[in-house]
Amino acid sequence: MGKDVIIACDFDSAEKTLAFLDRFKGRKPFVKIGMELFYSAGPQIVREIKARGHRIFLDLKLHDIPNTVKKAMAVLSSLDADIVNLHAGGTTAMMEAALEGLTRPDGSRPLLIAVTMLTSTDQTAMEKDLWIERPLQDVVMHYAENAKNAGLDGVVCSPLESPAVHERCGADFLTVTPGVRFADGAVGDQKRVTTPAKARELGSDYIVVGRPITGAGDPVAAYERCLAEFADR
Ligand code: C5P
Repeated sequence: MGKDVIIACDFDSAEKTLAFLDRFKGRKPFVKIGMELFYSAGPQIVREIKARGHRIFLDLKLHDIPNTVKKAMAVLSSLDADIVNLHAGGTTAMMEAALEGLTRPDGSRPLLIAVTMLTSTDQTAMEKDLWIERPLQDVVMHYAENAKNAGLDGVVCSPLESPAVHERCGADFLTVTPGVRFADGAVGDQKRVTTPAKARELGSDYIVVGRPITGAGDPVAAYERCLAEFADR
């Protein structure tokens, strides 16, 4: 798979999401379904968007005991998403169990990627709340390596972290990167942002773009602009 743009469909209902996707006419963008949409519309929204021909990143960030995650992943596997994820903080044992649960009897499975440290967690919160006293960047890289060693396919990270992740975990280890904004666009609540073109330069494999597309006057044009700057086509 070449570099592609994933649209974060952060809507609170199936109706809004499908109406949004209808605007793309024949095009079938890669879609991210997160907690908000999944909890409001249920697994059926995954089946429906898949049936319309889109690829899906199911961003549910699982984190529980290994056995529970393994069983939950087996259920998610049957939804036929293309990418699913979990928190690397759940430990290597949890990530290995997740892979096992995700793998279908015929050996096929969705790609599995890990969230390292959430970008909303800064050094201070990590030290005060989590009692982790290492530099944040070292923690992110350590979690990425754990994910790699557990057999996962990649991580969610900032485009700015893509070069270091690829260097440490290999060029084939996927970096799926949110925090993307157009050079002339609003930044919103994202702290460290890059343009789609810069994300490409830094080696991101997929960019996850929400509001710059969903909030645009012309979302299809905004999507095309992302593709033109970032994608392999
Ligand atoms: O609207 P925006 O482009 O900021 O959307 C980015 C998407 O990526 C959102 O769905 C957000 O939850 C997700 N995300 C993020 N930062 C992370 C992990 C996920 O922005 N570290």
